[in-house]
Amino acid sequence: MIRRTYAVIDGDTLENNVKEIKRKYPNYEYYIGVVKNNGYHHGIKSVLDLIRGGINYLAVSSLEEALEIRNYQRDIPILCLEPISIEAIDDVLNNNITITIESLEYLNQLLKLSYYTDLKIHLKVDSGMHRLGFTDSKSFEEAVKEIQNHPNMILEGVYSHFATSGIMDPYWDSQVEKFLEITKGINLKSIPIVHFGRSITLVEHPKLDFCNGVRLGIILYGFSNSIKDGKGVRSKLRILKRNYLQKKYGCSTTTLENDLKVSPAFSLYSEILSIRKVTKDDVVGYNTYKIKEDGYIYTIPIGYADGVTKAFGDVVIESERYPIVSDCMDMIMVFGNKKFSVGTTVEIFGKEKSIKEVCKSTNQNAYHLLNQIQNRVIRIHKTGKNKEEIIY
Ligand SMILES: Cc1ncc(COP(=O)(O)O)c(C=O)c1O
Repeated sequence: MIRRTYAVIDGDTLENNVKEIKRKYPNYEYYIGVVKNNGYHHGIKSVLDLIRGGINYLAVSSLEEALEIRNYQRDIPILCLEPISIEAIDDVLNNNITITIESLEYLNQLLKLSYYTDLKIHLKVDSGMHRLGFTDSKSFEEAVKEIQNHPNMILEGVYSHFATSGIMDPYWDSQVEKFLEITKGINLKSIPIVHFGRSITLVEHPKLDFCNGVRLGIILYGFSNSIKDGKGVRSKLRILKRNYLQKKYGCSTTTLENDLKVSPAFSLYSEILSIRKVTKDDVVGYNTYKIKEDGYIYTIPIGYADGVTKAFGDVVIESERYPIVSDCMDMIMVFGNKKFSVGTTVEIFGKEKSIKEVCKSTNQNAYHLLNQIQNRVIRIHKTGKNKEEIIY
């Protein structure tokens, strides 16, 4: 590693997160790990940790992502959530990839091909997200018939995706109703895998009895939306508000307490690249931050091209916080009053400053934050008792 700016991914934490989820929610047959964008940017090796933990199906955005995983794992079934280009069907078949069919138009294009066998298909239903999927029962039923009568197609799954969390929100219930309405012409029990997403649904709602699979993304990486205890005043008020709105709108009840123990596995580090003395009223960086007292500027080789900005607030050096006073494309400048040495490690987030804290100061959620840490930041993947490292 030459530029010492890197993310450390703790593979054991990812494995344990899956084990904990399966311990707490044991009643699904299929735990489908959503590993888009190389596992929410944790790097391709993180997918193997999730499989070790017990994920038994994967879901990715594109065929390219599926093929990348096949370089490391030949056997686990992988579902492409986006429809793939018809010309790429050979790659699908040669690599045991499951495709999504989301409309009759797309199915009809596939039916024109004659040279494939055992094409595994999941049908996507649009239950309210208005992004992809069948929108009416007639075309859905027609698609099911076409596929089931076709000698070379296997209808393995039916699924949908929630647009909302379902916390005090009647739209969640209407999405379940819409799904059942669109699929009413078939016996869902006869479909091998029926699945809905997402992490928040798992922790906030009881299992839907027609589903035997659940698609999980952010929770695998240590972010679970749950109320930890109902004892404090704020918790009590939240519970009262939920109960009131649930009564008012007649929507599903949600979980009020949850002791799920999952942890983030992604930490971000850099080092002090250069130090200079500054005195009161000196200015720093493009935005000419005015120094308020004598001290030092630590220049750190991580910037907005890596996904880090001044909005992160501060960094941790030797267990103390120091403010970021200026940001550039490749560097940030941090102010402090200690004379550290060049090469001292800087934690951007991780053990001593949580990702959640950065999310708060940057006013974004963990999905956005994780996905904005760019690929040029080297991933150091650690697993095993001796924390074996793979750098890539
Ligand atoms: C279709 C689909 N299913 C499941 C997920 C996983 O959602 P979450 O990360 O909230 O668990 C996503 C996330 O982008 C998705 O698009």
